[in-house]
Amino acid sequence: MNRLRIFALVLFALGSSLPALYALDKQPASTYHARRVALTATLQGGVAVLFAAEESALDFMPYRQDSDFYYLTGWNEPGAALMIVADAPQAATPRTYKEILFLPARNLRMEKYTGVKMDAATAGVEQAAGVDHVEPMTELPAELSRLLAADRPLIRNAWTQPDSAAATALLDFTAVTLGSSAVPQPHDVTSLTMPLRQIKDDGEIELIKKASAASILAQRVMMQWWVKPGMTERAIAGAMTAVWMENGCERPSYSPIVGSGINSTILHYSANDRTMQDGDILLVDAACEYSMYAADITRTVPVNGHFTPRQREIYNVVLGAQQAAIDAFVAGKSTINDRDRQDPNSLDTVAYNYIDTHGKDLHGQPLGQYWLHGLGHMMGIDVHDPANYPVALKPGMVFTIEPGIYIPEENLGVRIECDFLVGADGKLIDLDAALPHTPDEIEAAMRAK
Ligand code: GLY
Ligand code: MN
Repeated sequence: MNRLRIFALVLFALGSSLPALYALDKQPASTYHARRVALTATLQGGVAVLFAAEESALDFMPYRQDSDFYYLTGWNEPGAALMIVADAPQAATPRTYKEILFLPARNLRMEKYTGVKMDAATAGVEQAAGVDHVEPMTELPAELSRLLAADRPLIRNAWTQPDSAAATALLDFTAVTLGSSAVPQPHDVTSLTMPLRQIKDDGEIELIKKASAASILAQRVMMQWWVKPGMTERAIAGAMTAVWMENGCERPSYSPIVGSGINSTILHYSANDRTMQDGDILLVDAACEYSMYAADITRTVPVNGHFTPRQREIYNVVLGAQQAAIDAFVAGKSTINDRDRQDPNSLDTVAYNYIDTHGKDLHGQPLGQYWLHGLGHMMGIDVHDPANYPVALKPGMVFTIEPGIYIPEENLGVRIECDFLVGADGKLIDLDAALPHTPDEIEAAMRAK
């Protein structure tokens, strides 16, 4: 029996001693409630209506909740809506804070395909939802109509997700119920949830750390057991997926990028259909999501376990660029993802300058031209959490630093990506510090069996 097979059996044995199913780890109901209250503080007396993600028409595709809806509710079932009404003591009819979760009627035929759901009549639903009021979805137009009938100008202070067909239909219909045909464009509620989501609370950081731990383990397993000439890129993606799922993650946080040789130079390569050759470099940008929170890790490794001098040289330039950005970091001042590299506080500029002044291509030209993307991005419920870049990095923010050099002429792409938390003291915390990082550490991890 070869070593890979023994390892697969060990993994299987470990897996079979774990619980058969992991539900999502939710934060306390009070946390989601506090987020809703915080959102209303920015509504200026307005009303927000958010819709949950629909179940996919392809019923064999797994369901994923809308990220803003999840952030505000922790609710993981399709088709719901959340209405939040802000305090408005000065309104024509003064209002106080109100929150209602509207649930669609159960579809018993659909439940045969996708499992049992809750509706507003389900026993204990208020407690399960943790929202002050739970009502049937049929009440949503009526609630909104009543609210707007008592304060007609409020329709100009309605907030929904952009591009929500349900929200547009709801507001159009509500206007009709009020005898009006002109409906002002609703405001984009995600512009208000974005700054809230950018600062992670302790519970969110714990979930991100769990996503990181499983992702680190899978990267280690990749280095130690799976990478060798003759192995397919897809087999590596599959082996890593097994580790994520055995460790409670529900899905990859993006399509795994396992690119060997020329494929290492394709930024979002996901076909993963090549067989790796002796002497290739392999770029593995692959990580998972734990209870809706992402990790995002890239390591670049030599397929035969030994970097060539040229691979090592380029690797060290990318590593140096990442370290230069880390060294330059100042909380509250440094920015990330400054595409034009105009911002004097830009970590992108620091990393770019390093790359452009270290090493050369085969024609003696600087390497800056081979780095094509931003230095990093915010991370959380979405692997690319929403942000208006460039963002000044503050305590509680989680983001990636991921410089890269991609030289197709040399079949050589190197990216190194780690996830960082800005601590309360303003210092950077590398969430992936446990993973081999330097060329020597990677070669040692590939030797260790
Ligand atoms: N890890 C994929 C990306 O950040 O685009
Ligand atoms: Mn990334």
